[in-house]
Amino acid sequence: MERNREILAEYGGYADLLELRVDCLRAEERPAAAELPGVTKLPVILAARRVSDGGVWDGAESERIAYLTRLVPRGFAYLDVEEDLYAPALESKARSGGCRIIRSIHDTVGVPTDLVQRLESLARVPDELPKAAVTPRSSADLRRLIATFHSVQGMEKILLGMGEHGFCTRVLAGKLGSFLCYSSAPGLNAAPGHTDPRTLCDVYRFKNVRQSTEVFGVMGNPVSHSMSPRIHNTGFAALDLDAVYLPFLADDAPEFVRAAELIPVRGLSVTIPHKRAVLPLLSISDSAVRHVGACNTMKAGPHGWEGTNTDMEGFLGPLRHAFGGTTPQRLRATVIGAGGAARAVVAGLVSCGADVLVLNRTPEHASELAAEFGVTSSGLDDAGVSRITGYRDLIVQTTSVGMEPNDSDDPVPGYEFSGREVVYDLVYKPPVTAFLSRAALAGCRTIPGGRMLLAQALAQFTYFTGREYPRETAQKAMLSHADNG
Ligand code: ATR
Repeated sequence: MERNREILAEYGGYADLLELRVDCLRAEERPAAAELPGVTKLPVILAARRVSDGGVWDGAESERIAYLTRLVPRGFAYLDVEEDLYAPALESKARSGGCRIIRSIHDTVGVPTDLVQRLESLARVPDELPKAAVTPRSSADLRRLIATFHSVQGMEKILLGMGEHGFCTRVLAGKLGSFLCYSSAPGLNAAPGHTDPRTLCDVYRFKNVRQSTEVFGVMGNPVSHSMSPRIHNTGFAALDLDAVYLPFLADDAPEFVRAAELIPVRGLSVTIPHKRAVLPLLSISDSAVRHVGACNTMKAGPHGWEGTNTDMEGFLGPLRHAFGGTTPQRLRATVIGAGGAARAVVAGLVSCGADVLVLNRTPEHASELAAEFGVTSSGLDDAGVSRITGYRDLIVQTTSVGMEPNDSDDPVPGYEFSGREVVYDLVYKPPVTAFLSRAALAGCRTIPGGRMLLAQALAQFTYFTGREYPRETAQKAMLSHADNG
């Protein structure tokens, strides 16, 4: 209860309602639960969640009902009881004291196939508030959940998807039509997928999300580490746009895109591993997509999805900056890695006439990429590394080696810098990798990955909104995300 008071003091300003989960209290503290409605002006929901519903109440059912019956007249505004509960005395006590009943379904393993019918028949009397907290496990499940929102559009209800696949349904409560969204203090993790009130309100501007709000996001797997939501939402806020940008965990590109169309989503950043998988879904691909052979940005147009690729420009912008504002010509360059990011880098370098050596752990991937762009390749072994000396005006590191938490890893520990190389690492966490600091120590000019992250994101922002990302905001983002260290 003391921790509850602290949370209330710190986060109460963000909340419109509180939920007291009495199942989380220690047994000796249970009587004190009655005090909470008296210490706040906010309406309080009373809930004692059973283990089978994702809670921690493991006592006898009769005890739970008796406890709730004692508490409910003490000023609680809502009582959350389950679909299968039969407790007429508790319910009539709640109703007679003006406490509204939330009638809930919890599915901690999936999305019930009959969710629409169950929601429609959930309320036992007209004033009850139906609630379903379900767990989409895939993009296909998310699509069914979004379809459910549309099927029960006119109904007042609480509906949400738990876990990472369902995250968007929480932030979009005001757009999709859910009475509330649950949030908990950092570290509490009261349910899978909760975000804390500050992030919800300050980053996602939850209270501004309404039916008209345009939705954007990044589809990827994994995606939870992405910096893009912070960058884009900060831009939307600075320009006061009625828009929100979300991280979307997508396990299957076509399934996810169908779910996105239902929300509907206006624009998507595309990241690992979907940059090629979305190509068949595009109605229009611009020259950047065709040149790179991958798409990292798509928006809904009048005739379907339109795609572009901002990675190549995002890579070249900071490179030009490092070469005094002009495009370096005829560089001899090494690219480490042969994945999606390397593809945009090689395309960009070839477009400015560079001679490129691609080095990759799996030599076949390197030779495929190299053949496509008419450049040369090797494996990432001693023989390959020894070839770098012939291609060292610029070295670009595009693999995940050196990324947190493996900060000390170096993609080419056997290579000695001459000090004349320009070294560009696309990894942005940490902001300065071990590879880059080794290069800087040897006297090389270095370009941290945060610069490309930001440059490609700002180009996406303009593609999505038709507006320039506000310069001052970008400079701040650059300082805080890209260059610290
Ligand atoms: P991205 O879109 O970020 O480029 P990707 O397409 O999955 O991601 O490509 C990852 C690249 O990092 C590949 O070149 C991969 O090498 P393989 O082709 O051999 O898989 C490279 N990579 C990933 N982990 C690596 C490691 N531990 N050592 C060396 N290269 C690695």
